[in-house]
Amino acid sequence: MTIETSHYASATRRVQPSAIRELFSLLSRPDVISLAGGFPSAAALDLNGLRGATERALILSVATALQYGNSEGYEPLRELIAQRAKTKGMKLDASDLLITTGSQQAIDLITRVLVDPGDRVAVEAPTYLGALQAFQFQGADLQAVPADHEGVRVEELEAMVVQHRPKLLYLIPNFANPTGYVMSLRRRKQVLALAKTHRFFIVEDDAYGELYFRDPPPP
Ligand SMILES: Cc1ncc(COP(=O)(O)O)c(C=O)c1O
Repeated sequence: MTIETSHYASATRRVQPSAIRELFSLLSRPDVISLAGGFPSAAALDLNGLRGATERALILSVATALQYGNSEGYEPLRELIAQRAKTKGMKLDASDLLITTGSQQAIDLITRVLVDPGDRVAVEAPTYLGALQAFQFQGADLQAVPADHEGVRVEELEAMVVQHRPKLLYLIPNFANPTGYVMSLRRRKQVLALAKTHRFFIVEDDAYGELYFRDPPPP
């Protein structure tokens, strides 16, 4: 039997061509230096650090390093992340954490846990394409809210929330992709107050919060 598009599950039929995938296939060409994707220079990758860490993990325990483990992720790593989060004023324990292979997998899992087809998902505009694709795959009804240099615009957000009652709001408060904007503390507090009043979830994608030259972004 030949597979045709009509055989695909409805979620797969919703998949759109990915600009990111197109971009990454161009990046493998030696004659292209692209500044369009978040593609680190190979020279900036910590080869020695990674090699040392891999060696230590293998020497310490091959069984732990190469064997299946908890679905939640390696316990000492979860402890370490919880400790770091506490230094930033976040109240969480290792048992609250799930290790993923990156932000993208986390966004995908959160979407599958919280969003039914037709549920409204609010995003600031413009935002990260990969997140939009995860929401679209799940059949979310996307609601875009404009953002400026202080982050998502609260008046427009409130009007949208009152009218459309989104299930969740996806934000990149620190060095947003693609604008690079940092959301002000004032806006953070306003958005939090809105979420409490109107009872929607906030998904914070903090892919870049630790990459800054001068002042750290607000909490
Ligand atoms: C805002 C944002 N979130 C998530 C990702 C994907 O991150 P990861 O590679 O950790 O899945 C990116 C990558 O460009 C991004 O810019």
